[in-house]
Amino acid sequence: MSDLNLILLGPPGAGKGTQAQRLAKDFELPHYATGDILRQAVDDGTELGKQAKPIMDSGGLVPDDIITGVIGERIASSEAADGFILDGFPRTIPQAEALDVLLERLGRRIFAVMLIDTPDEEVIKRISGRRFSKKTGQIYNIHFDPPKHEGRCDVDGSELVQRDDDRPEVVSDRLATYHAQTAPLIDYYDQRGLLRRFDGTRSVTEVHDHIRATLATLRLEEGI
Ligand code: AP5
Repeated sequence: MSDLNLILLGPPGAGKGTQAQRLAKDFELPHYATGDILRQAVDDGTELGKQAKPIMDSGGLVPDDIITGVIGERIASSEAADGFILDGFPRTIPQAEALDVLLERLGRRIFAVMLIDTPDEEVIKRISGRRFSKKTGQIYNIHFDPPKHEGRCDVDGSELVQRDDDRPEVVSDRLATYHAQTAPLIDYYDQRGLLRRFDGTRSVTEVHDHIRATLATLRLEEGI
């Protein structure tokens, strides 16, 4: 089976969510962002949210089995039958292995893993300017990708806010977690011939165009 099962990989603030939102529209695919799912659980005060909040605030990772269960349900759902975009998952080797098992059980496979390569200095600059709407999930940047009206979402005028874990002291811990626990996935997927690299320092539009062109070539090669 050759459905469009895509993974976005990269450090915090690389632009995974920004690109995933665009690709989800392009290909009409569901976008599963584990960070968004967890933040929603925190806002809703669920058990998952209560467990995740202190971990997220310290820049660490929630336990693999919990997050794998959350994603597993979504991948197996009917809305993901033609493909899905994963943003923020997998984030550790055990999560990647669990995903392999899950997909194998469903008779499916990963189509491509897109690494948005962005240096730490750039990430720190971007995260300090990030704002988002809790209502629409739309992401902006006061320096690089501002909304039309300051502090308001272009989609519905809802208020734009900063994430709790975007404080500078948490960002350095998130980066350390990325390098220690998530960066090994680059080799993991490269060895399987699935990894595609994109220069995350280019503009949002340039990165988007490059990803689309790469996916178009891959789809032609695979005949889907
Ligand atoms: P999560 O929400 O996934 O955070 P993250 O991976 O740290 O990634 P970010 O959302 O910060 O960045 P992004 O790459 O999506 O960048 P964005 O597009 O917003 O996770 C949060 C926490 O949840 C984790 O720390 C962990 O605790 C927990 N968690 C989540 N998943 C987990 C898992 N699988 N296992 C365990 N724990 C998990 O862009 C950033 C900014 O830059 C924006 O303002 C944007 O407008 C701007 N921008 C984007 N692209 C460009 C560009 N090309 N040029 C200029 N500006 C740009």
